[in-house]
Amino acid sequence: MDQVRQWYDAYVAHRFAAIEPLVVARAEGTRLWDQEGREYLDCFSGISVVNLGHRHPAVIAAVRSQLERLVHCNSYTYYVPEVAQLARQLAEITPGRLQKSFFSNSGAEAVEAAMRMAKAYTGRSEFIALERGFHGRTLGTLALTGNAGRRRKGGPYVPGVAFAPTPVRLASRPDETPAQVVERAVEGLENAFRYQTSGAVAAVIVEPVLGEGGILVPPPEYLPRVREVADRYGALLIVDEVQTGFGRTGRMFAIEHYGVEPDIMTLAKGIADGFPLGATVAKAEIADSLGPGEHLSTFGGNPVSVAAALANLEEIIRLDLPAAAARKGAIALTRLQQWAQGCAGVREVRGLGLMIGIELGDVSGPRPDWAVAARAHARQAGVLIGVGGPEGNVLRLQPPLVISEADWLRALEVIEAAVAAAVSG
Ligand SMILES: Cc1ncc(COP(=O)(O)O)c(C=O)c1O
Repeated sequence: MDQVRQWYDAYVAHRFAAIEPLVVARAEGTRLWDQEGREYLDCFSGISVVNLGHRHPAVIAAVRSQLERLVHCNSYTYYVPEVAQLARQLAEITPGRLQKSFFSNSGAEAVEAAMRMAKAYTGRSEFIALERGFHGRTLGTLALTGNAGRRRKGGPYVPGVAFAPTPVRLASRPDETPAQVVERAVEGLENAFRYQTSGAVAAVIVEPVLGEGGILVPPPEYLPRVREVADRYGALLIVDEVQTGFGRTGRMFAIEHYGVEPDIMTLAKGIADGFPLGATVAKAEIADSLGPGEHLSTFGGNPVSVAAALANLEEIIRLDLPAAAARKGAIALTRLQQWAQGCAGVREVRGLGLMIGIELGDVSGPRPDWAVAARAHARQAGVLIGVGGPEGNVLRLQPPLVISEADWLRALEVIEAAVAAAVSG
């Protein structure tokens, strides 16, 4: 443990702000073990990645078999059967006319590709994103990221990005109804089109549930209104499902909750149960606006990751994990919201499916110290959770979708006790 920590300090750049004092030795299913053999129930899934659990046997078998055949050749220079199969399957399971996939290695690259497609298709160069949105840490995706903390030390960014209000209730207006929230957010979006851009907006980009923003769920009427406004200004709609995709929110893709058809969808994280892969799925005419070789990636669509994605998807569908996430998420939300009423220090419990946030704060404002303390108490009791939100005061519960109901209920008990202990100091 000590040497690993020392070497991290000496040789690893840019670690997480509040890295957990835990050296991971192995993981399987919903469990992680540290070097001392202690077992943890993983309720963060490697930042919302292993929806099917760690090292799922079907994924491992597919990867092993792929390793025996082909590791790399570049999936854009040669035809790779698994890549063709995954692209076809994504066209089938994504909503509307989304049809062609560009494969990369991460969420940020998936968003970068979406930006390029939108620019090429529309011949326009500007974007509108949400104030509390997050889309990655490359310079292009940081330009779309509203969260000020995440943008520090990276600018100046590409110009031509305007930010619209996030469709959530403001602390300064606690009595706002969801309908009023939507009106204010849509008016802000209109204003962004009218006054903050030159009128050449290529696309609006939104997360259907904001993950890094602190698990923020827009009211149901919001996204259809965004579609309407974007259409009126001739802009495309990019839905960033990097964090919400593959069953996490109780549907295969979160946008299905809203009945909206995007022009481009970005995917990564849960796509391959831990193997690195990003996908940008677009309507054919939009994808085709970039010609051969105009956008490419050396490792993108790596056959091993793609084989993992195929097995992952097959299991998610076979086990109907979106429905399982909806069921377990609803149990947790009801229970936690009830518990929160009696727990000073909990401002709000919110979420969709197995993407749940517990926001902590008091009269002095957000309490990121409570969040870190609660996470530590939970870890000491054998449950791993995340911390997020722009102010760092939101606990993130995003377990593998396969978590058993017994484990999930135990985790909730541990988390409630951890929050109570953190808040009482
Ligand atoms: C919505 C969203 N988009 C993009 C990204 C960036 O993904 P990656 O870290 O794989 O580049 C993230 C990562 O958290 C995300 O949540």
